[in-house]
Amino acid sequence: MSATNLRIRPAEGGVGAFVEAIELDSLDDDADFATLRQALGNHGVLFFRNQNMTPERFIDVARRFGPINVNRFFARTEGYPEIAEVRKEPHHTDNIGSRWHTDHSYDAVPALGSILLARETPSQGGDTIFANMYGAYNSLSDGLKKTLQALSAVHSSRHVFGREGSVARSTDLQDRIANPDDATQDSVHPVVIRHPISGKKALFINPQFTVRFDGWTEAESAPLIGYLEGHATRPEHVYRFNWQPGSIAFWDNRATWHLAINDYPGERRLMHRITLEGEPIAA
Ligand code: SIN
Repeated sequence: MSATNLRIRPAEGGVGAFVEAIELDSLDDDADFATLRQALGNHGVLFFRNQNMTPERFIDVARRFGPINVNRFFARTEGYPEIAEVRKEPHHTDNIGSRWHTDHSYDAVPALGSILLARETPSQGGDTIFANMYGAYNSLSDGLKKTLQALSAVHSSRHVFGREGSVARSTDLQDRIANPDDATQDSVHPVVIRHPISGKKALFINPQFTVRFDGWTEAESAPLIGYLEGHATRPEHVYRFNWQPGSIAFWDNRATWHLAINDYPGERRLMHRITLEGEPIAA
């Protein structure tokens, strides 16, 4: 299949696009991968259906988009350390990713994005909501845009994955997330970035990993971060994706946030996630 045959249809919502009628593991042409990478930067998240590939082929496909970043904290799929498991068993109460976030923003070079492949889905529920950080930025007032453009923010992994973090306080997330002593990452990033693929401006803070604006206290920062959370997740900025086994969402961490809905008690949900290395980000 050549690049000219790729059918990319914007989702009927605030973010994302569906890539229709392709099997990712039969794509071969570098031009197709370049087209998909550009579409990812433009739309923020790409959705695919019916991609029931083996773990080996999943790793091969991911590598066509860039080097793999092995997550420090998530459980790894047996035999495939490149593939993180996002899993909830019937006896679990908490799910992974239940707060608005973008992955790895605490790293000095945040990950490009993640490819999440659904292996087992509950009979109903378990959707993921994505939010558009281009739309969130563009729809702010000129005054607030100007204020935010002058700011940087501190992102950290400590209060989430560390010994005193929210994972450690959960009743059962420790079953699936480990290595609290590795949660030592703190990074400062511009609050408004120029996206490295699309060239568009995007809001780059997130409610989970951003702890404060640089030079501000956490107490001073919390109201503005809270305001931006409400603004960025307004209905016109979001799209809710319903999973089936074999569905893929490939999101760009620099252009979107996501949140996994925990509404399927007593059922299993198993997703395989590969995260890709990003490039340095700047204002
Ligand atoms: C994640 O936050 O990486 C997981 C999202 C999901 O399970 O839908």
